[in-house]
Amino acid sequence: MSRGKILFQISGSIACYKACQLLSRLVQSGFEVEVVASKSALAFVGEATLEGLTGKPVHTDTFARGQTMNHIHLIRWADLVLLCPASANTINKFASGVADDLLSTLFLAHDFRKPYLVAPAMNAQMLRHPATQASIEKLTEWGIEFLGTGSGALACGEVGEGRLLEPDVLYSLVEKRFAPVPGKKLELLITAGGTREPIDGVRSIANSSTGRTGAALADYFSSQGHRVTFLHARDSSPPNVVPSRDIPFSSFADLEKALKKELGQNRYDAVIHAAAVADFTVDSVNTDGRAVKPEADGKIDSQGEISIKLKRTPKLVDHLRDQSLNPKLRVVAFKLTMGADSASRERAVETLAERARPDFIVHNDLSEITSDAHGATIYSGNKKIATTGSKAELARRLENYLLETEAQR
Ligand SMILES: Cc1cc2nc3c(=O)[nH]c(=O)nc-3n(C[C@H](O)[C@H](O)[C@H](O)COP(=O)(O)O)c2cc1C
Repeated sequence: MSRGKILFQISGSIACYKACQLLSRLVQSGFEVEVVASKSALAFVGEATLEGLTGKPVHTDTFARGQTMNHIHLIRWADLVLLCPASANTINKFASGVADDLLSTLFLAHDFRKPYLVAPAMNAQMLRHPATQASIEKLTEWGIEFLGTGSGALACGEVGEGRLLEPDVLYSLVEKRFAPVPGKKLELLITAGGTREPIDGVRSIANSSTGRTGAALADYFSSQGHRVTFLHARDSSPPNVVPSRDIPFSSFADLEKALKKELGQNRYDAVIHAAAVADFTVDSVNTDGRAVKPEADGKIDSQGEISIKLKRTPKLVDHLRDQSLNPKLRVVAFKLTMGADSASRERAVETLAERARPDFIVHNDLSEITSDAHGATIYSGNKKIATTGSKAELARRLENYLLETEAQR
């Protein structure tokens, strides 16, 4: 029995090969899929590939003999329409109502009563362009659902926003529209990004955390139907999937206060503590022999001698369980090392395991994180239980462990 009917539209982007992976997964999972490809899309992947994956001919031509009413029939037939990848050209065409090929004609024939999902893929500048941004805004107002983009290495050699979301994330987002994902749903608190310790009203001490890992984990867990409260640094990478709740923080003190409040007021099943928390905060700033508190308003004079006195912060991860309404709160802690050999990595994990007693530790070494790959090792206590090569794989593993330990409680 078909799980649902998907009209899968493909436009011309380097990410067409990733759309093929999604297409394959949808067909194998029991969805009935019809493919419409733009002329440009067929320059990236061949008709034979698309036909081979679906077992059906690909629709490309508005005027194909015997199929001239397809521009209406296909849209009526579908339960859901997905444009993936969505090129800048097609997005801008849709927003201006141009209907000069089968893709855009089908868009005009859509009556907004069934979901129309769009997964963009393009160079960061094309995405930022005012034309594209205005089109996205207009289409969103009309009821089209944009699924967001990922950031990282782009085909053009740049690094930035505009990558097609990973096929497994897209699959979950599409599947979610048809049936709720079965199984226990977790109540999760995910922290992400780095704290900023104020020196004065305009200066601060920050760290290099981007918050991308936390955002990717939030995306995955939200797409699986779990409830995610995303507690994040103000300037960290946002998730693509809107979390259930979104709380920003800036300094160590903000994060400490927010954690205490959240854990004391809500019954979370687990905390995934991926935020990079300052080990030191500013105690005072001494300028020409005068000590000023960092909270002071205004700006410290840049002339003369300046020295900053730091004070050590407590380890937030050590106290999460004590602060929680749920005494069986599971804690996932993160440990980052930089170019450490395996003995130093083990030692760092062991120290954290002994001190904070988290249920799981995710260890990363900076040398294993690139724009394409994200190597991590997961520990239960200080016992190694898995190594993962990407953020998506890390998220899936953590979900398995959290669900397994949930069932054992
Ligand atoms: C190698 C290559 C890669 C491209 N990748 C993208 C892309 O990722 N996103 C995009 O919007 N356009 C991309 N383009 C440009 C589009 O293919 C082009 O604008 C085309 O007219 C889109 O047609 P369509 O929207 O009808 O499919 C690429 C072009 C080339 C030659």
